[in-house]
Amino acid sequence: MTGRLNVVVGVSGGIAAYKAVAVIRALVLAGHDVHVVATEAALRFVGKPTLEAISRNPVHTDLYEGVAQVRHVAIGQAADLIVVAPATAHSIAKIAAGLADDLLGNTILASSAPLVLAPAMHTEMWQNPATVANIATLRARGVTIVGPAIGQLTGSDTGAGRMVDPDDVVSAALAALTVQDLAGRRVLVTAGGTREALDPVRFIGNRSSGRQGVALAVAAASRGAEVTLLAANLEVPVPTGITRIDVVSAGDLASAAALEVNRADIVIMAAAVADYRPAVIAEAKIKKESAGERLTLELVRNPDILSSLSASKRADQIVVGFAAETEPDDAALLEAGRGKVARKGCDYLVLNRVGWAEGFSVPDNDVVMLDLAGDIVMRASGSKASVAHRILDRLA
Ligand code: CTP
Repeated sequence: MTGRLNVVVGVSGGIAAYKAVAVIRALVLAGHDVHVVATEAALRFVGKPTLEAISRNPVHTDLYEGVAQVRHVAIGQAADLIVVAPATAHSIAKIAAGLADDLLGNTILASSAPLVLAPAMHTEMWQNPATVANIATLRARGVTIVGPAIGQLTGSDTGAGRMVDPDDVVSAALAALTVQDLAGRRVLVTAGGTREALDPVRFIGNRSSGRQGVALAVAAASRGAEVTLLAANLEVPVPTGITRIDVVSAGDLASAAALEVNRADIVIMAAAVADYRPAVIAEAKIKKESAGERLTLELVRNPDILSSLSASKRADQIVVGFAAETEPDDAALLEAGRGKVARKGCDYLVLNRVGWAEGFSVPDNDVVMLDLAGDIVMRASGSKASVAHRILDRLA
């Protein structure tokens, strides 16, 4: 995982410059130190005060300002990452040619940091052989090109050339810094909590939001994996780039997992799966008039998906289970985990304590990872994203 980064956001002069504000904001909110280098043309589309307020740093444009601090190379040398959003056809041409007639050009030339460009222009300009050749040159040099998307352009026309959504620029930019140690691997993740129907309008569910499972899917994708997410009633969004299959009940999850498991190199069962389902699902809404003062529900056991996947897995597959326990102390938690990993037969079990205020719907998590022998292989606490990366560090 990356800590606080020094990110240079280059803004070049196109209508999409207003979207740079959202890119900068997302990077700042993610805890990074953002320095904006805008071209003169960019400042015709978006004001310097806006860029300074959002980035919380002075915005630089002029090559001949701050000469004493050798600013034309200092900003580039200090950068961990440079993102140019939007990158106009003109700025792409200049970067491809290595021109340094403004501060942005100098900054890029003086830097060895990963460079990510988010092109934005009209379709004709994007498809022009000059731009096509410049993009090919930049890709061959290892520059990450994110987008453009297809959609409504500035005029009434539609086509390839829209800058991708700011959040996608940010995830592509941060992924450019992430080691691609899961490249070529297929990862199947289950997330969320299953719901077992009682009648057409009611279900028995659990408090899992899906945050940790989605964080694992996102982290695996950022490390180059091809990720399929079996999503059970998620409370959180799933970014693009992950194949999402929605499921509702444990039965749905079992069927979807059976279809997907053979393709997977790694299976991570982060979903909270209902152990029991109602023995009968009422055809119509259960009514008080007929049920009376007391209603007894009969539940039957659901098959254990993790156990059967573990029992039938290939030698080259890794299966990871999760266990959310309410044990009061560390020793009891570990004992429960050791029993569970042995019973389930999975390669690893990620254990966390849950309670009324812990574990569910909160951004942070605190986990212990056990191997099949019950030995602790990793402990992690922090954001669910950082915990996800620590788990994947073990698996990669
Ligand atoms: N799991 C599963 N199928 C089920 C129940 C659980 O695949 N029918 C998986 C979960 O996705 C999780 C792991 O098993 O990865 C542990 O879930 P948990 O509910 O803690 O385990 P249980 O076997 O249900 O044990 P307990 O009796 O403690 O609830």
